[in-house]
Amino acid sequence: MNTAFSTLIRTASHEQHMEAETSTFMSDLLGGRLGVEAYARYTEQLWFVYEALEADAERLASDPVTGPFIRTELLRRGALERDLTHLRGADWRATLTALPATEAYAARVAECAREWPGGYVAHHYTRYLGDLSGGQIIRGKAEQTWGFARKGDGVRFYVFEDIGNPAAFKRGYRELLDGVRADELERQRIVAECRRAFALNTAVFHALGEEFPLTA
Ligand code: HEM
Repeated sequence: MNTAFSTLIRTASHEQHMEAETSTFMSDLLGGRLGVEAYARYTEQLWFVYEALEADAERLASDPVTGPFIRTELLRRGALERDLTHLRGADWRATLTALPATEAYAARVAECAREWPGGYVAHHYTRYLGDLSGGQIIRGKAEQTWGFARKGDGVRFYVFEDIGNPAAFKRGYRELLDGVRADELERQRIVAECRRAFALNTAVFHALGEEFPLTA
């Protein structure tokens, strides 16, 4: 029997998921061992990634492959901008910089958005389904560690106000994945791009880990 594509992509990225989850930077962040500056720097990096994911939403919405995935309730850029205003001040754009690893990640997302709908789906899945899942754990920790208001400024990125039932939404999302318009070979390519998306995330964590080492 054919494995559902949503199961395939999940299983295929399982190892990379563990790697990202247990990276030094993530562990330190979730362990409450880093200052709010590290969290702000991470949030800045996310802005570049979501800028690349969402800049072309209108065109991607009319593409037969990416179209079903483009949902306004997922869009994160506005929430990130509110968080950055809270974390950095009204002129957050003036000091915003991407780490080289973030530049590489955002460039790959933008390239897929321009040229390869299937690859874009891989990046979409890796970010948004992750934000709806583990993102909720990060939010709780951030509120607890740095005292942000529950679901308020600073953690709005993790709050999907228009998704009342995340579990149901994720089920619907997996159905979209299962019905993605792609033949077997293209599905394999999408899975490979998903692994690449995880690796790009891990590279950003490594770079952040170097910028925010724990002093013993
Ligand atoms: C410390 C950080 C993280 C934690 C604690 C975490 C935790 C989780 C948990 C508990 C789930 C399962 C949710 C479910 O079964 O419905 C999940 C799913 C997922 N996570 Fe993470 N995660 C983390 C980091 C990441 C990162 C960095 C990415 C990629 C950028 C990511 C991408 C995903 C994806 C795509 C899924 C959905 C898997 C699927 O059901 O197909 N996660 N995460």
